[in-house]
Amino acid sequence: MMSDERQCKFLPVFTQQLIKLRIIKKMVKHFFRGAFNRILHLLARFIPGATNIRPFLHRLRGVKIHGKVFIGDEVYIENSHPEVIEMYEEAELAPRCTLIAHFRGTGKIILKQKAWVGTGAIIIASPNQTLTIEEGSVVAAGSVVTKNVPPFTLVGGSPAKPIANVTVPMTLDGTSFEDFKKGLVPIKKK
Ligand SMILES: CC(C)(COP(=O)(O)OP(=O)(O)OC[C@H]1O[C@@H](n2cnc3c(N)ncnc32)[C@H](O)[C@@H]1OP(=O)(O)O)[C@@H](O)C(=O)NCCC(=O)NCCS
Repeated sequence: MMSDERQCKFLPVFTQQLIKLRIIKKMVKHFFRGAFNRILHLLARFIPGATNIRPFLHRLRGVKIHGKVFIGDEVYIENSHPEVIEMYEEAELAPRCTLIAHFRGTGKIILKQKAWVGTGAIIIASPNQTLTIEEGSVVAAGSVVTKNVPPFTLVGGSPAKPIANVTVPMTLDGTSFEDFKKGLVPIKKK
């Protein structure tokens, strides 16, 4: 039997070791999860399969994808915090757009149904901000979006501003450009 005195000394050392071990285990797990996620991200950027393989890989990384979506070539979706990005049915990301929702803290980016983001656009959410691109909206190519985009609105520029109302949204089954363009109702500048 251990004397009471020895037990008193041994217990704090044992607890400290246990805590250290838990911290190390957590760090190792975090490291491997991060590395695995980055490999999945890299694959998703180049492998073909905009409506199947890429969404599958992003789901594995933690991106919340509901229904069928389109993810173009070289799309960059949050490397460090994929779980803060959410995409709904028929949301589309054109090639090379970037979604970032962290900067010394995390925010959230939500793309609602039929939200369409043009090539090279950058969507940025600040910490604690939930940035939503609402249903049927379109972000013009090369825009920088930092604020919510109202439903069925075409926004463009840096920072992105409303340009037109969208009456014919872009859909995954292939709305033609002509139909989309005919459906735009310009927003009068004040
Ligand atoms: C949004 C988009 C569809 C508009 O095309 P469009 O209707 O032919 O554009 P227009 O040249 O008639 O411009 C309409 C207005 O929007 C503005 N605009 C168009 N594109 C813009 C852009 N990328 N950024 C900022 N403003 C833009 C124009 O300045 C114009 O404004 P004005 O009426 O005050 O002059 C087009 O710019 C775009 O982003 N295409 C996406 C291409 C893409 O990502 N392809 C990948 C497919 S997977």
